[in-house]
Amino acid sequence: MSRLLTYALPEGTNAHIDDLVEEIERSPFGSPTPVDLAGVYERLHIKDVVDDLPEGLNEEDLRGILMLAMLTECATDSYAAVFYEGARDYGTPWLTRFTERTWVPDEYTHADPFKSMLMSMGHSEAELDDHIKRVQEKTFVHSSGKTPVELTTFGILQEFLTDHWHGMIAGLLTRRAPEAARLANEVKKRETLHYMWYREMTAIQVQANPDLLHLVAEAVTSFSMPGMSLIPEYQSKALDWMMPAGADMQRNAREVIRHLYALGGNTKRAGELLIEIAIIKGIPIAGLSPTRAQSIIDRMGGVGYSLLGEAVLESVGLPMPEGVGKRNDNKLVGAVPTWGALYDRGRGKLRSLIVGRLDLSTVTGAPSEK
Ligand SMILES: [Fe+2]
Ligand SMILES: [Fe+2]
Repeated sequence: MSRLLTYALPEGTNAHIDDLVEEIERSPFGSPTPVDLAGVYERLHIKDVVDDLPEGLNEEDLRGILMLAMLTECATDSYAAVFYEGARDYGTPWLTRFTERTWVPDEYTHADPFKSMLMSMGHSEAELDDHIKRVQEKTFVHSSGKTPVELTTFGILQEFLTDHWHGMIAGLLTRRAPEAARLANEVKKRETLHYMWYREMTAIQVQANPDLLHLVAEAVTSFSMPGMSLIPEYQSKALDWMMPAGADMQRNAREVIRHLYALGGNTKRAGELLIEIAIIKGIPIAGLSPTRAQSIIDRMGGVGYSLLGEAVLESVGLPMPEGVGKRNDNKLVGAVPTWGALYDRGRGKLRSLIVGRLDLSTVTGAPSEK
């Protein structure tokens, strides 16, 4: 597929996002309080967790899970370099500012808790520093495009998945090594903030210029975790570890959809984004090929995209937007339903039909449970 994708923002949008970045800096969450972890590893007792691991995971797996966390977190500078490059090339100083003042200093603190956990499992600091150095010297291959909207979309996905990873670690540690679980949860909370901030930045760009949805779709479909280029020996095992660790892949897929959904600001744009992603990935929509689904939806006009967006909302359990199914004239005139009531009823039926045939796991590539 070749499409000329251009990045442009209407006047005032850069200033708008810069205000958001300033607000983040001034908020109590703008900079985390540094924690001194010297010697903490002696109190973490990670080895005690080995007997408590769920079926399908052993000590080596736990080591790998922690290694993946530490080594993904240690490569902050290589990710930041890509963001600086995109911000410079496309003239978005807010992205440089956020990366430099908020994101980088925060991310610098994320590898150490996992390093302490690995030291508690018997690894020496020198050995772990050696691993870290080797990863920091490698070249990170960024797969998702470098326009600011692609970078902030990449940020949503990467931070969301990292957040999930750290939460999964906390879950494994919580019974036998609660202090370590608390440390993992502290990092997790930062990742939650990061993806929410990237989500806001992406939404402002997309709502200022809806054509950017194409770039969001490109970023989603070309996304891969940085670990695939930096530490494939660990990253390639992530899915195998997630299943026995109790990760709910369908729930993750639904969560990603929720975040993407919020970007467009309305159901029509959410529907457009979903079709765009489906076309790039060749994913069927409601049992139809994505191009066939698009041609039907196009013939229905804007309402087709809104319906698809509403179906997505319904399937992930989000409330319908204001006004949908609640038309003022949605009443009976005597015993006869009004035109508005019939319209809403028909729309509701169509929506349910799409919901019944929508497999959202295909959008994010998560394995389907169906
Ligand atoms: Fe991080
Ligand atoms: Fe982060």
